Amino acid sequence: MSYIEVNGETKRYQTGQTIIYANRDVSFSARQGELIVILGASGAGKSTLLNILGGMDTCDEGQVIIDGNDIAQFDAKQLTTYRRFDVGFVFQFYNLVSNLTARENVELSAQIVGNAADATQTLADVGLADRVDNFPAQLSGGEQQRVAIARAVAKNPKILLCDEPTGALDYNTGKQVLQILQDQSRKRGATVIIVTHNAAIAPIADRVIRMRDAQVQSVELNPTPTDIKDIEW
Ligand SMILES: Nc1ncnc2c1ncn2[C@@H]1O[C@H](COP(=O)(O)OP(=O)(O)O)[C@@H](O)[C@H]1O
Ligand SMILES: [Mg+2]
Repeated sequence: MSYIEVNGETKRYQTGQTIIYANRDVSFSARQGELIVILGASGAGKSTLLNILGGMDTCDEGQVIIDGNDIAQFDAKQLTTYRRFDVGFVFQFYNLVSNLTARENVELSAQIVGNAADATQTLADVGLADRVDNFPAQLSGGEQQRVAIARAVAKNPKILLCDEPTGALDYNTGKQVLQILQDQSRKRGATVIIVTHNAAIAPIADRVIRMRDAQVQSVELNPTPTDIKDIEW
């Protein structure tokens, strides 16, 4: 069995008489340590899928098997444990705590697990050794996103889920962030899933899942991912 196996996952929203499918019969699998890109236009259902994979939302139907456990069957307490120990999340707009320094933001997240990496070292690993005592407002967008990545990876998550992580960043800063995310899969063996609407990012992935109208349109394996320095948008 693959590390991630999603089978027939469906998520609906009802507004008045209308039912909207955010995810419809979504199925795919992925291996541990892969860099996966989920590609699709706005509204395609990408964030819904990512939130369900991260245990932040639940589906209406289907299986979401992670490392042998169907998290779709988890109760709230099991989901809390799963989110806490197994998942790191990186958002488009960083979501840092504004009155805490970079180091404190990372420590805050690290505190909720037992075996967290050192906050200062993790910040140094993402190139922020000299910014640990800065508050978010004193950092550029790219630096704030690197703090957010440090916060997510200090927990040593098995799965790193990233929702449009470069969406608010300029071209070069976006590439730096992608390199750090790719390193998490290549060097740490984390399974990294990047959601994006930017097709230019897809060639860096080991696996590309294309979504359209709440459904998976295609899943492609890429045996020779492109170096991040060679992609352009
Ligand atoms: N809480 C919600 N209530 C109603 N509709 C929602 C809700 N969340 C998402 N949707 C709808 O589900 C679809 C997929 O949304 P989303 O997963 O955010 O797409 P993407 O991340 O690809 O832009 C969209 O049509 C969106 O409007
Ligand atoms: Mg989205």
